[in-house]
Amino acid sequence: MSFSIVFPFGFCYTFGMTDLAQLVVRPATLDDVDGISKLIRSYPDELIARPPNNIIENIDRFTLAILHDEIVACACWQILPEIGNPDNTTVEIQSVAVKQELRRTHIGTKLIEKVLERIKAFKPAQALVLTFAPGFFAKMGFREIPKQKIMHKIYRGCIYCTKHADPFTCPEIAMALELPRD
Ligand SMILES: CC(C)(COP(=O)(O)OP(=O)(O)OC[C@H]1O[C@@H](n2cnc3c(N)ncnc32)[C@H](O)[C@@H]1OP(=O)(O)O)[C@@H](O)C(=O)NCCC(=O)NCCS
Repeated sequence: MSFSIVFPFGFCYTFGMTDLAQLVVRPATLDDVDGISKLIRSYPDELIARPPNNIIENIDRFTLAILHDEIVACACWQILPEIGNPDNTTVEIQSVAVKQELRRTHIGTKLIEKVLERIKAFKPAQALVLTFAPGFFAKMGFREIPKQKIMHKIYRGCIYCTKHADPFTCPEIAMALELPRD
């Protein structure tokens, strides 16, 4: 099985199984900051910008997919505050990006599987995403939830967002995945 990608001017590159067999999914290190920054900046409409220092401060929460020494996908997570109900903890998955030319080759799936494995170690009740790609997360078992259920996320981040006037009319879809805790 192989994937052919046709670039402008007719240049075509074929990724064989051997290429994706080289994919390594691993936690990020501080050497990866520039590569992560570049990948996030390549999606200005879909992702919230992160200054390099924010990536440095959160580097222990990033997971990467690496192909031939290049960062081809990244994702981060953030434990959200839970007031009054410590049994209902939520981890938000953020900054999910797969390099444009490699989308739809299941790299995103492998990345999120690894992120969920890392998150489960903390035993939260659920994972949360706010996303423009609900179809992708639905395939990973996430289900849409009303934004009124994630007021901790709204107050922590969304109210500071300058992209949209109101978190409840923002086109990003809120989706959650319940996580087994045993
Ligand atoms: C969303 C994204 C991370 C998905 O990664 P990906 O590597 O392209 O996804 P995969 O190849 O693993 O897709 C897994 C399945 O979901 C489907 N899928 C992927 N993106 C989809 C989308 N936007 N809508 C519907 N289905 C989608 C794939 O077709 C595939 O289906 P299959 O198993 O039947 O073949 C990637 O497209 C991306 O970086 N998008 C831009 C940034 C973004 O929107 N990030 C999400 C913000 S939270």
